[in-house]
Amino acid sequence: MVAMNWLAVIKSAEFVKAAVKRDQYPPADLPEVAFAGRSNVGKSSLINCLLQRKKLVRTSRTPGRTQTLNFFLINQACYFVDLPGYGFAKVPEAVRAQWRPMVETYLTERKSLRGVVQIMDARRPPTVDDLQLWNWLRVQRIAAIAVLTKADKMSRGKNHPALLAASASLAVPVEELVLFSAVTGQGRQQLIEAMLQRFQLSVPTTPLA
Ligand code: GTP
Ligand code: MG
Repeated sequence: MVAMNWLAVIKSAEFVKAAVKRDQYPPADLPEVAFAGRSNVGKSSLINCLLQRKKLVRTSRTPGRTQTLNFFLINQACYFVDLPGYGFAKVPEAVRAQWRPMVETYLTERKSLRGVVQIMDARRPPTVDDLQLWNWLRVQRIAAIAVLTKADKMSRGKNHPALLAASASLAVPVEELVLFSAVTGQGRQQLIEAMLQRFQLSVPTTPLA
């Protein structure tokens, strides 16, 4: 069977729901991919770039703007979930305290979750928070793809050492890391292919009883 690359053409992409608690999630009847990363790393911009929609997901210069789990329905076939960012010191303590249970509950309990795209900054090594989430996903056996974004902000010569450093600290082969830019679209195709393959997005989810 040929797996159709249905993400290559985005026919529809719509915001469906902002959720904090599990009873606010949409039905778990479609495959789902979550996008995680530090505040301000470029999660929302990456989703917009993947979907080729400039303003579907709100982006901002102010870190910590996304504070809920935001569900987007893509091609009526799959959900993308923009997770609130972690690790930004200026985010109020009350908001930070809420992050962990909200995100952990979602990641561990969501039956239709196929995998997590973890977004990190290409210009610097993964942070302690990045490594904590990355290793936690591994322990939980949640499939994950590591993306290094804002690649347009670093000179080509620097690409290689940054990739090697990320590869070593994440324990991921260099060729599995996705170097990405929401500005130039670099890495978009590689990420779509990795998601289709590693998260088995062409295989339909069995609806839950
Ligand atoms: P929170 O929702 O606050 O956690 O942030 P976020 O991770 O969703 O980041 P967002 O997409 O809002 O982007 C944050 C800032 O980085 C914005 O000013 C973006 O324009 C900028 N940005 C995002 N991706 C890129 C990129 O690939 N290259 C460059 N140069 N800037 C980017
Ligand atoms: Mg955001």
